[in-house]
Amino acid sequence: MSPTNKPPAYPGLDTPALLLDLDSLDKNIRRMAAFFRRGRSRLRPHFKTHKCTPIAWRQLRAGAVGITCATVDEAESLAAAGIRDILIANQVVGDGKIARLVALAHETDVMIAVDNARNARDVARAARQQAVSVRCLVEVDTGMGRCGVTPARAAALARSTARMEGLALAGLMGYEGHCVFIEDKKQREDETRHALGKLISAVRAVRAETKLRSPVVSAGGTGTCRITGRFPGVTEVQAGSYATMDAKYARLVPGFACALTVLATVISRPSSGVAVLDSGMKAISPEFGMPTAARAPGVEIVKLAEEHAVATLSEEAKSLAVGDRVELVPAHGCTTVNLHGWYNCVLRGEVVATWSIAAGAFTR
Ligand SMILES: Cc1ncc(COP(=O)(O)O)c(C=O)c1O
Repeated sequence: MSPTNKPPAYPGLDTPALLLDLDSLDKNIRRMAAFFRRGRSRLRPHFKTHKCTPIAWRQLRAGAVGITCATVDEAESLAAAGIRDILIANQVVGDGKIARLVALAHETDVMIAVDNARNARDVARAARQQAVSVRCLVEVDTGMGRCGVTPARAAALARSTARMEGLALAGLMGYEGHCVFIEDKKQREDETRHALGKLISAVRAVRAETKLRSPVVSAGGTGTCRITGRFPGVTEVQAGSYATMDAKYARLVPGFACALTVLATVISRPSSGVAVLDSGMKAISPEFGMPTAARAPGVEIVKLAEEHAVATLSEEAKSLAVGDRVELVPAHGCTTVNLHGWYNCVLRGEVVATWSIAAGAFTR
């Protein structure tokens, strides 16, 4: 690689350092916003991917109807940043968390997922005691095998929650997480449609048995949003990874750039074909496999230890020396971001800002 087209080395940063390319981030946000402007459903992007309120605000300003998140911690961070329309796409269980949820309902329009009548009663009671109402979506398991009632049981749960003072039944959700990573496009589309068919049949049953006329119907991830975002009856999509992307999604979802990288330094060259970098699994999640090297042809990461990444080098990369820097694209962005306290935001090779990561392992 000639010195002129060498990627930036960010000499002012110690490594490992989480980098966020703002040009790529903004392009991804604009691209997804344009897709939703052309259809009827709306985007409520998932916060768990980036855990960063300036990014959430950029998504809202681009047209998102609100923000989805996974935890009460995340919802509190969103509320503290002035974001008012929040879906916790998860069950909120336990007195402490329910009390925090109810406190949030005083200042925000917060929605939760419910899949259990006893939990729904606990939330309703706490909300009544504080004279607030918490909006809820009945969660339906459309085949993922995680939370959610079966489609056949959705109407019964909806009927009972609709009668609970303190809860306001707003609709249904059914995240088709078992479809988002299916490599074969046709199979992904077929299985997504099958899953959403189950969700919409549950919606019909709920409409028939309650007074709910315009339910929120929320589903979708980055791998399925082109299908889910156009599926009749779906009103909101919860995709999140599209904003920052990662190496796994980059193989499956064309058109979105990897804005997120971990900057690593070569700390050892034990042999001509091997380099060792200082960013291991304490900086990059190995959950979905090895990171890929960005703009570093011939560098292949083959192993992550706690503080080390081992790379094999083909001929074109053999000039890599101790002290050189390489940007690594994590295979899974969400669980990588959670390992860091802030993003180093870069624009055309310069660090221009640092943005905090909220409610992560580092900042909890
Ligand atoms: C409930 C829920 N909704 C939506 C998503 C979509 O996220 P992504 O855009 O990363 O596919 C996830 C991801 O795990 C999720 O758990």
